[in-house]
Amino acid sequence: MKNYPIGIFDSGVGGLTVVKQMFKRLPNEEIVYLGDTARVPYGTKSPETIKRFAVENANFLMKFKVKLIVVACNTASSTSLDILREKFNIPIVGVIKPGAEKAVQITRNNKVGIIGTYTTVKSKAYEKEIRRFSRDVEVASKACPLFVPLVEEGWLKEDVTFDIVKKYLKPLMSKKIDTLILGCTHYPLLKSVISKVAGREVKIVDSASSVADEVCNILMALGKLSEQKKPSHKFFATDAVEHFVRIGEKFLGTKIHRAERADYV
Ligand code: DGL
Repeated sequence: MKNYPIGIFDSGVGGLTVVKQMFKRLPNEEIVYLGDTARVPYGTKSPETIKRFAVENANFLMKFKVKLIVVACNTASSTSLDILREKFNIPIVGVIKPGAEKAVQITRNNKVGIIGTYTTVKSKAYEKEIRRFSRDVEVASKACPLFVPLVEEGWLKEDVTFDIVKKYLKPLMSKKIDTLILGCTHYPLLKSVISKVAGREVKIVDSASSVADEVCNILMALGKLSEQKKPSHKFFATDAVEHFVRIGEKFLGTKIHRAERADYV
């Protein structure tokens, strides 16, 4: 069981920001990654539809005898963790709780901002999780739907990107937040622009690194940390595999030598 892989899924390539952190934090773990590129974006779809996709994605990963599943997609994490935990008898880790916990730990003025997709913001999943850690923290949130296409296009430092970030962050900055949660897989790639706009005094919480810490803690507690020295990873996409590899390498920061089509969609 120890050396069984960890399954990770996302609506597309964005979840590879989580894989990147997993590689750093847990280098002995074998990863099976699934990007649901045929049905991306999730961020504008209804919770019911996303739940159905999430169960199908998890079913696919279970074929590889995964010992734990990470739902790297914030939109899927904010809508589908309950149904996944009901249906699958392995630990299911989402990205909301680790990000919320970190934000509560580091805010000094108890004012936290959250940015994410429409569905994530509408679900109030981050607010609910923050409330569980602290009743004193005030939360302001903003959907930033243009960020995903900007990142996929590789426009990470253009003037237009700076202007769009400024416009989206304005209402949050006026609430005097001192901590900002990047509640979407794609946003870590915009971290330097977001940081510039928000100012140095605003701490940025990137849920990708918080989730890798959480997975490490869970596996350690269960005595299931892998002992493999050279794990071999597997990458799947439900459509457009070549495009997945090309864009995905930007998210991962390394080469994806091989990716296959997952054809259950
Ligand atoms: N992966 C999604 C998320 O983290 C962003 C892309 C999408 O809308 O599917 O919310």
